[in-house]
Amino acid sequence: MIVLKTARELNIMREAGRISAGALRVAGMAVEPGVTTGEIDKLAYDYIISQGAKPNFLHYHGYPATACISINDEVIHGIPSKSRVIREGDIVSIDLGACFEGYNGDNAATFACGDVSDEAKRLMDATRESLYEGIRMAIHGNRIGDISNAIQQYVETRGYSVVRDFVGHGVGASLHEAPEVPNFGKPGRGTRLVAGMTLAIEPMINVGTPNVKQLSDGWTIKTADGKLSAHFEHSIAITPEGPVILTLPD
Ligand code: MF3
Ligand code: CO
Repeated sequence: MIVLKTARELNIMREAGRISAGALRVAGMAVEPGVTTGEIDKLAYDYIISQGAKPNFLHYHGYPATACISINDEVIHGIPSKSRVIREGDIVSIDLGACFEGYNGDNAATFACGDVSDEAKRLMDATRESLYEGIRMAIHGNRIGDISNAIQQYVETRGYSVVRDFVGHGVGASLHEAPEVPNFGKPGRGTRLVAGMTLAIEPMINVGTPNVKQLSDGWTIKTADGKLSAHFEHSIAITPEGPVILTLPD
């Protein structure tokens, strides 16, 4: 069931989104050589609590942290740790969200640690831009497939591949709601988009194969071929005036 949000709910979701985006900014600014993913997770936790919100990944299906922090060939769901050190040249995908007054924000971005390869820069640029291409299609009367296809076309024409085993989703009173928002698909297909829907759109894009594998920690997802992956995500609302990005910092 797809839950449409009222204007009152959208206002709260804007707050949840603002806090989620602020936490992501704090976490991203901390990415530098020698920092551990555990330290970054703590910064994100403290920020979300300071805003009167709750980290919504923490304890979700048993997840043990505020953020997912995934480095280089790790795609998503990397578990922060005090022994995991970020190095110059790494690309660091941080995914986190905040729950405020019962509503969830969810956002992600990939950050460069110092100087990274041209290949890494191009991948990050393409993944970020593909998210905005998808958001542009999040218009009342369009369909989910219009978002999916815009993302897929943008990245595949640049030689990258779309992870298929994980998808975006509705977001609201629950972190994950219907409908699913795949990053691949056909235009004009899938659920009709209507004003009041709130979606987390989140392309996970690989340099090489789209295939992924899960590590024995039960969470971390890596590319099957060990090549780089990037991840960007916004929570958005579909409104009569067009798409509104909810996960924007002040
Ligand atoms: N990263 C997922 C998303 O963006 C949610 C994380 S689930 C968790 O939808 F359990 F890892 F927290
Ligand atoms: Co999400």
